[in-house]
Amino acid sequence: MPTDHLTLAREALSRARSIAVLTGAGISAESGIPTFRDALTGLWEQFKPEELATPEAFLANPKLVWEWYAWRRRKVADAVPNPGHVALAELERRCIARDANFTLVTQNVDGLHQVAGSRNVIELHGNIRRVKCFDHHHPAASWSETGELPPRCTQCGSMLRPDVVWFGEMLPDDALETAMQAARHCDVFLSVGTSAVVEPAASLPLVARQAGAMVIEVNPQPTPLTAAAQISLRGAAGELLPQLVALA
Ligand code: OAD
Repeated sequence: MPTDHLTLAREALSRARSIAVLTGAGISAESGIPTFRDALTGLWEQFKPEELATPEAFLANPKLVWEWYAWRRRKVADAVPNPGHVALAELERRCIARDANFTLVTQNVDGLHQVAGSRNVIELHGNIRRVKCFDHHHPAASWSETGELPPRCTQCGSMLRPDVVWFGEMLPDDALETAMQAARHCDVFLSVGTSAVVEPAASLPLVARQAGAMVIEVNPQPTPLTAAAQISLRGAAGELLPQLVALA
């Protein structure tokens, strides 16, 4: 990777008046949370999304789906942010200090950006740490992992489910709208650790590019976004982001 690309990207980030960041599972890989599509280690290499991540799958086999998410929730609970998460939290603090806009849009459901100290986080796909009921989306403050699984909603008696977006479900309207606005109005768009194939998130960097932003990608592998990005940095988020934010 030419060093000058890293320097160009670092300078663009330090001067930007408005930064939008999109993260995907790759940023949490170094925290020990498996991605979805990486060869051999990706969750969708071992499990079928249509059997675990759709409303129909949940209704057909609620206990199996609940237990799969409970397993993932335990992994998330044991994980800690890595230097990539920390660098993005620091980038936000620096933007605030110089009165620049900063929006972090994530497809991740692990909540690690918030643990690392990021504040303006838009969760496009929900958060696995939260649980709601299937019928009415009543949030559940606490629940038991023993006894009947899935547990029942204390308000309406319907089954509890993870508060994540499943295939075939709509993204939260306000989150998507805020993400689109951030993409349209940023001058630098940073895409980190996403395969850039799942819509509508995959369109965000393209919207930004069309609106005139500089698009920077951080990923060890090329993606469908690579051709549209002005700068593509090949490597791990935990190594490259601290350098981009000049922490390393
Ligand atoms: P994917 O698993 O599709 O892509 C992960 C990306 O991270 C790949 O492009 C990897 O090359 C890259 N990667 C791996 N290790 C990395 C590292 N250390 N640093 C930086 N990048 C790394 O995950 P997403 O793009 O997040 O949706 O997937 C999008 C959505 O598909 C997910 O939110 C999930 C899934 O189905 C739902 O559950 C609704």
